[in-house]
Amino acid sequence: PAGGATAAGAPAPGDRILFGHVGSLTGLSATFGLSSDKGIQLAIEELNAKGGVKGKLLAVKTYDDQGKPDEAAITATRLVVQDRVAVLLGEVASTRSLAMAPIADANKVSMITPSSTNVKVTKDGDKTRPYVFRVCFIDPFQGTVMAKFARGELKLARVAVLRDVGNDYSVGLADAFLAKYKELGGAIVDDQSYREGDQDFKAQLTAIKARNPEAIYVPGYYTDVALIARQARELGMKQPLLGGDGWDSEKLYEIGGKALQGSYFSNHYSAEDPAPRIQEFVKRYKERFGAVPDSLAAQAYDAAKIAADAIGRAKDFSGPAIRDAIAATRDYPGVTGVITIDQDHNAVKPAVVLKVEGNAARYVTTIQPDTAP
Ligand code: PHE
Repeated sequence: PAGGATAAGAPAPGDRILFGHVGSLTGLSATFGLSSDKGIQLAIEELNAKGGVKGKLLAVKTYDDQGKPDEAAITATRLVVQDRVAVLLGEVASTRSLAMAPIADANKVSMITPSSTNVKVTKDGDKTRPYVFRVCFIDPFQGTVMAKFARGELKLARVAVLRDVGNDYSVGLADAFLAKYKELGGAIVDDQSYREGDQDFKAQLTAIKARNPEAIYVPGYYTDVALIARQARELGMKQPLLGGDGWDSEKLYEIGGKALQGSYFSNHYSAEDPAPRIQEFVKRYKERFGAVPDSLAAQAYDAAKIAADAIGRAKDFSGPAIRDAIAATRDYPGVTGVITIDQDHNAVKPAVVLKVEGNAARYVTTIQPDTAP
């Protein structure tokens, strides 16, 4: 722009490197944003204790999008244009990351979503979005993981699906699960829908009950899933529920009570994993925040560390240079696994399957990407 002002997309000059975080700190998926923010903070504190990056300390500015896609877009724009952040971190929910992605591209500021798994987040049609990256796996893999587990391990022949039709993540994951489960010879006996925030799921559950499935696949977020589980039990349904990473919240157990006992979901990591890199992270996080880090916290920690690592390798602080450095990330030793950014700007990583027992999700198994095509 005229007058020598710093363009959007070029970080503000100064002594610190600013990350912008867009997250749901309030609303029906508030634990997603709150956990992510803690993960980012821990990463930044650790990096700063070692002198920061290229002689500059790191900081984060976080905005609450209240779980709304339009707020995610507004706050992402504010971070880029007003705060002139070097990198955008977030969102967790795919629908909100999809609202941010065009802003990252248009302003040439890289965005790393820690946990959005919908394919379209990093791909617009068949074109990879130049400035959008993720450090997690994608839903065609995650859906396959649970389909294989349901069919191969649990030996289930009949499963019903209950999806959130207003949520790109839920729809994409339901489709991926269903396709793989059928391919493996299972029957999808019903496919019902709801919208986030619905309070009464009895009509859908009654319809599902009549089809007598052995399990119900509910790839939604924790608040809805917990209510669905409670109402299923009220209707006398005893089937386990199956789900994905969107279940990962301490609130799942708080809201769901005993209704989810024996249910399974796929996730990015397990805090019970004995691997030293995970146990050391869990310990540091507990010391700092007094809580066990969920996968959102771990993924956001990795996203912030990868952003910093890329800035350290970038030839300068410009948007394109940082972008190129993120795209060149290879074999980064993250807490959640070894992270290589592939040509579609995704990370190829294993998934874990967890079982709800008591007020926790117990580790069951790890599924590698190459064994689940
Ligand atoms: N994968 C979910 C999405 O894309 C978000 C999520 C990730 C939720 C991890 C919880 C845990 O919408």
